[in-house]
Amino acid sequence: MKKKLLGTLLSAAMVMSLLAGCGSSAATDAAADAAATVEDAADDAAEEAQAEVVEDVEAAEEAVEEAAADAGASSDGGNISIGFAQVGHESDWRTASTKSCQDVFSEANGYDLSFVDCDNDEAAQKEAVRSFIEQGVDYIIIDPIIATGWDTVLTECEDAGIPVIVIDRTIDDSDKYVAWVGSNFLTEGKAAGEWLKAYAEKQGIGEINALVISGSTGASAQIGRSDGFKEIADREGWTILDEQTGDFTEAGGQEVMESYCKSYEGKFNVVVCQNDNEAFGAMTAMDNAGVAYGPGNDVILISFDACTAGLEDVKAGKISADFECNPLAAPFVEMVIQQLQNGETPDKEVYMEEHWYALPDQIVDFSIDGAAQTMTEVTDDVIAAQY
Ligand code: AHR
Repeated sequence: MKKKLLGTLLSAAMVMSLLAGCGSSAATDAAADAAATVEDAADDAAEEAQAEVVEDVEAAEEAVEEAAADAGASSDGGNISIGFAQVGHESDWRTASTKSCQDVFSEANGYDLSFVDCDNDEAAQKEAVRSFIEQGVDYIIIDPIIATGWDTVLTECEDAGIPVIVIDRTIDDSDKYVAWVGSNFLTEGKAAGEWLKAYAEKQGIGEINALVISGSTGASAQIGRSDGFKEIADREGWTILDEQTGDFTEAGGQEVMESYCKSYEGKFNVVVCQNDNEAFGAMTAMDNAGVAYGPGNDVILISFDACTAGLEDVKAGKISADFECNPLAAPFVEMVIQQLQNGETPDKEVYMEEHWYALPDQIVDFSIDGAAQTMTEVTDDVIAAQY
């Protein structure tokens, strides 16, 4: 376009000088017309050049912002700002997860962390994400209370240009996030089932009648653990007498187990709690109801998380096996953020390493989908190293 205008200017100037050389009045008029054409063309060229300068300045500003981000600082050159919409404070696991994030995303490490405890309230969690958008944070971390209903708010994050990193639980109905770091809940559920199969065989237990106290309904941690355990139960022909939610809390676990003890008195030999806190509540209920549980007793108690207090109960012979869910994901989330800062593309999924815990008499060989598993013996050192 610029070339075309310059061409017009040059042609007009040439015509003008030729006509002026002729010396007639017609030539003088033509020269005046040509001069007007040159003036118009010059105005057009000036306007166009100004528009291009504005575009160039905008492009340069964008480049500066990108360079600042690539250099590892936020666009204003200060700390990297992060909004974290945490599930709540329902369990020992959650406390460890929150601490892990607060330790990693500290001011000393170059971050400004806005932390919101959403108290297991889905609406409050979406509101928290929207408030992070309004604040204009550099990154948003979400631990989704439930797995669905996320596409609209994630689209809002995307429109605002804020990368979202999902931690722990999954979002199952949208892929508008840059990365997820968490646990394979389906594998955890299968591990519990395959362990129970091998342990029951070793003990000569022919019939399994299980009661499940599940986590918060619709959370991917609940869905995966329920599905994984059920897959093995169906294959082995076990009976799952009931499955009710304890909402991942001690109070919830106790309440559900109290009702199970009344409804299924003498009819169950396995209790599966989908986290340690539910198991603590279930043990209180069984103690009160006079139900004996743990290795060598009537009821096999299975738990998930393997937090410090959970492993202490394994060591004390109360929980028969505990399947870890690792809450220390924050360092991996930081790795994702640093990759983004450096203009790299992080892996979309990062799985946490997890272990299966028991005392020596309850350690058995088993496989998950053909992969041999190794169990970890619970010792004082193992407990001391846990979260
Ligand atoms: O999403 C992880 C689960 O949520 C943990 O098993 C549980 O303890 C927590 O509340």
